[in-house]
Amino acid sequence: MGFNFATKILQLLGLSLLSTAAVLEGKDSGKVCTVIPRGQNQDDVPNILHAVEECGHIPGGRVVLPSPYVYRINQRMTTHLENSKLEIGGTLLFSDDISYWVNNSYRFNYQHQSTAWRITGHDYEVDGGAKLGGIDGNGQVWYTWAKGGSNTFGRPMPMHVYNSTNAVLRNISVRNQQFWAVLVEESSYITLDHFYINATNHDFKADPESQWIQNTDGVDTYNSHHITITNWVYEGGDDAVAFKGNSSNIHVENIRVYGGPGIAFGSLGQYPDRWDIVENITVKDVVLQPSFQREIQSGVYFKSWIGVNYGDPPNGGGGGHGWVRNVTVENIKLIDVENPIYIDTWYSFSRRAKPILVLTSPSLSYLTQDVSKYCDTSTYRFDDIHFRNISGNGLATPNDYPGKNITFGISLLCSEKAPCKNLTFQDVDVQLPESYKGPKVLCANAQVKGLKCDKFE
Ligand SMILES: *[C@@H]1O[C@H](CO)[C@@H](O)[C@H](O)[C@H]1NC(C)=O
Ligand SMILES: *[C@@H]1O[C@H](CO)[C@@H](O)[C@H](O)[C@H]1NC(C)=O
Ligand SMILES: *[C@@H]1O[C@H](CO)[C@@H](O)[C@H](O)[C@H]1NC(C)=O
Ligand SMILES: *[C@@H]1O[C@H](CO)[C@@H](O)[C@H](O)[C@H]1NC(C)=O
Ligand SMILES: *[C@@H]1O[C@H](CO)[C@@H](O)[C@H](O)[C@H]1NC(C)=O
Ligand SMILES: *[C@@H]1O[C@H](CO)[C@@H](O)[C@H](O)[C@H]1NC(C)=O
Ligand SMILES: *[C@@H]1O[C@H](CO)[C@@H](O)[C@H](O)[C@H]1NC(C)=O
Ligand SMILES: *[C@@H]1O[C@H](CO)[C@@H](O)[C@H](O)[C@H]1NC(C)=O
Ligand SMILES: *[C@@H]1O[C@H](CO)[C@@H](O)[C@H](O)[C@H]1NC(C)=O
Ligand SMILES: *[C@@H]1O[C@H](CO)[C@@H](O)[C@H](O)[C@H]1NC(C)=O
Repeated sequence: MGFNFATKILQLLGLSLLSTAAVLEGKDSGKVCTVIPRGQNQDDVPNILHAVEECGHIPGGRVVLPSPYVYRINQRMTTHLENSKLEIGGTLLFSDDISYWVNNSYRFNYQHQSTAWRITGHDYEVDGGAKLGGIDGNGQVWYTWAKGGSNTFGRPMPMHVYNSTNAVLRNISVRNQQFWAVLVEESSYITLDHFYINATNHDFKADPESQWIQNTDGVDTYNSHHITITNWVYEGGDDAVAFKGNSSNIHVENIRVYGGPGIAFGSLGQYPDRWDIVENITVKDVVLQPSFQREIQSGVYFKSWIGVNYGDPPNGGGGGHGWVRNVTVENIKLIDVENPIYIDTWYSFSRRAKPILVLTSPSLSYLTQDVSKYCDTSTYRFDDIHFRNISGNGLATPNDYPGKNITFGISLLCSEKAPCKNLTFQDVDVQLPESYKGPKVLCANAQVKGLKCDKFE
């Protein structure tokens, strides 16, 4: 009470002293550093880093960024936390200086991607509090700048949990993320509980289908293990949750998804010199539906690249190795999902594109050659994947997957080189419109139990 009171008084006096972190001894739990924004659009990164330096490395230390303050994040930053807590009741507002970020973001060694805020360390908490403080990525400038281009270089992710162990991040909102909202990389024993993510486009010039919000994923994991992702609401234009290479022992539960392609395993096998091992994953209690701005393209899906290397990342590649194994997907509710459940082993040239691709967004690949002859080349494996209690409906919008004018409720098209093994289905009922008379369950090179595959050419 004393400290808050003092803060308020100093604030009223408008003292510039407040622009640096104030440090006090907390009553019973180490130091507390409260940061007040400097105001007038001045960069708050130095004050935040100073507070983290003072209070973020000592047992019980607390770095407090209270509501309703807005902190200007005008440069990249790494906050290293040990045995301490970062409380973000306020908002970290990332600057809209595209040229700064494109040139200066941290690079992430995957698809040439970039990040803006790294959180490193161990035994820490980041808590947005009862009102879900967190991040405003100022994403609109990026959506308008990239104009729907996929993986445009330099768009930074606002929250990069990196080289961390034993961390809990909770009660956090990420609005208008510039790119993926959260990346968990090289980390283990991380809990991400109670997140609200919302990327909404307001540029009326945007392409009505993509709304220019592709790549606004919720959370992606890479080289990370023992991760819990619970109680999320996601609205945006890309994967709500995506498991990239080397993600294991991950539990995902209670996720509401509005728009985008849903829950993704992949993409995988993009780099010929990397092994992508995705193992021991549970995904349960997920509801997927369209949003006011965007359709929902898929429910839960798995995608690996073709077995030959063709083009360069981010949007080319292939020939990588590994497997997805021991996955349980249960209690999934699908509402008007375009392509509800599928395994796609020829990802590099996209289900929705013609075999001969043209360079259009939102095509997933920029290849212009006919690579359809490579669709059975992937050696990437999908084994022991179990689906239980999945209900709802698909839209059956005919597309050309796999090169035919047909659609599906469930599609399991595995590569001849690496047939899928032990795919089981229990209480799975995906309805398609009456008007659609074609096959509903597509299988190729897949060992399937509990589901009848339909004939298709
Ligand atoms: C990167 O910085 C250079 C030099 O400051 C600038 O000319 C360029 O426009 C920047 N890149 C982008 C994409 O803004
Ligand atoms: C943060 O979320 C947890 C649930 O994860 C909840 O128990 C807690 O009360 C929340 N914290 C605050 C300060 O609201
Ligand atoms: C990762 O964290 C460990 C332990 O905190 C540290 O020793 C190591 O230097 C960090 N590695 C990188 C690449 O930051
Ligand atoms: C996301 O934000 C937009 C714009 O503020 C809002 O209309 C929409 O309802 C939000 N979505 C969710 C799921 O809260
Ligand atoms: C993934 O893990 C495997 C096995 O531990 C390792 O060989 C491989 O290098 C890792 N892949 C990446 C991309 O780090
Ligand atoms: C499969 O993963 C679950 C966790 O999702 C784990 O409890 C179980 O032991 C794993 N089974 C095998 C055979 O690895
Ligand atoms: C998956 O779980 C099994 C059983 O607990 C364990 O033996 C295996 O090492 C786990 N896989 C990974 C990649 O951690
Ligand atoms: C099946 O999933 C639905 C949500 O889609 C859930 O309400 C229901 O309780 C689940 N049934 C069982 C037996 O778990
Ligand atoms: C199928 O996978 C489950 C666990 O993921 C495993 O217990 C079972 O033995 C597997 N069955 C076959 C036939 O491989
Ligand atoms: C694809 O099928 C739909 C009906 O399911 C039909 O209206 C359409 O003409 C077909 N397109 C082609 C190219 O055959």
